[in-house]
Amino acid sequence: MPIEQTDSDVTLSHAGSSVKVLLHGANILSWKVNGREKLFLSEAAILDGTKAVRGGVPLVFPVFGKATSGPTATLPQHGFARLSTWEFLGQTTEDPLTVQFGLGPENVSKELQSAWPYDFTLIFSVSLGSDTLETSLSITNPGNVAWDFQTLLHTYFYIPDVNKVAVTGLTGVSVKDKVTKTDYSETSKDVTIASEVDRVYENVAEPVSITSDGKTLFEITRKNLDDVVVWNPWTNCTKMGDFKPATGYKNMICVEAGSVSKWTSLAPGETYVAVETVKALL
Ligand code: BG6
Repeated sequence: MPIEQTDSDVTLSHAGSSVKVLLHGANILSWKVNGREKLFLSEAAILDGTKAVRGGVPLVFPVFGKATSGPTATLPQHGFARLSTWEFLGQTTEDPLTVQFGLGPENVSKELQSAWPYDFTLIFSVSLGSDTLETSLSITNPGNVAWDFQTLLHTYFYIPDVNKVAVTGLTGVSVKDKVTKTDYSETSKDVTIASEVDRVYENVAEPVSITSDGKTLFEITRKNLDDVVVWNPWTNCTKMGDFKPATGYKNMICVEAGSVSKWTSLAPGETYVAVETVKALL
């Protein structure tokens, strides 16, 4: 069956490839190409809807991180999309195999709704190709007041060895470094990871790739997701109760396509469509 649905998730399968989406958060849990897993999911990830999922592709909306002021300041880190249970809207196309998930205020807890009391419609589309995963988040304001948002696809890529991995396509880009608390322009052609990294690369013009030993593992292209966050907690992963095993940081890198360095204002009736396509090469 190309689409299998349970009470808690939806799995698409096509010619040896598959993608599994948890209704909680519309969080992609697994993406396999030729039977090989491409995403990192913590062994201690909580999948019962009581917490955001540690791994796969959590969706960040309407705030990235924690706002210190403004209308999203009372929301939890990374907003409510990853904390809410989405509705499965069904299949939209057969080739490529595409399904959609929806979220509106009625799907969000009363507490989170009152923390951010705006009307919104999110449609998350997941499209499985033979070696590609295309995700698109359509954000609509059906209400009568404008609101501002940030959004991001918080993708945890599975990698064989963090010591061999580099992110390319970031040379010359302005960085806000959350570890060193400095701003600078990236000088490296290959951004490598040898300690905790938490950086927001702003307005990245080029497609970004993840390589291992010089060979491309993933090519990432983006539309309306101008920024790229690179995050690896390194040994600090042990401070997260839901991150296991303790050595898991060696097998993951978050390269997150987002619109987070500025706020986007959505007027009544407007829609913003953000798209990310990931191609797996090895
Ligand atoms: C990244 C942020 O996007 O997400 C990091 O840049 C943060 O600062 C990380 O630590 C994980 O966030 P969370 O809320 O899922 O633990």
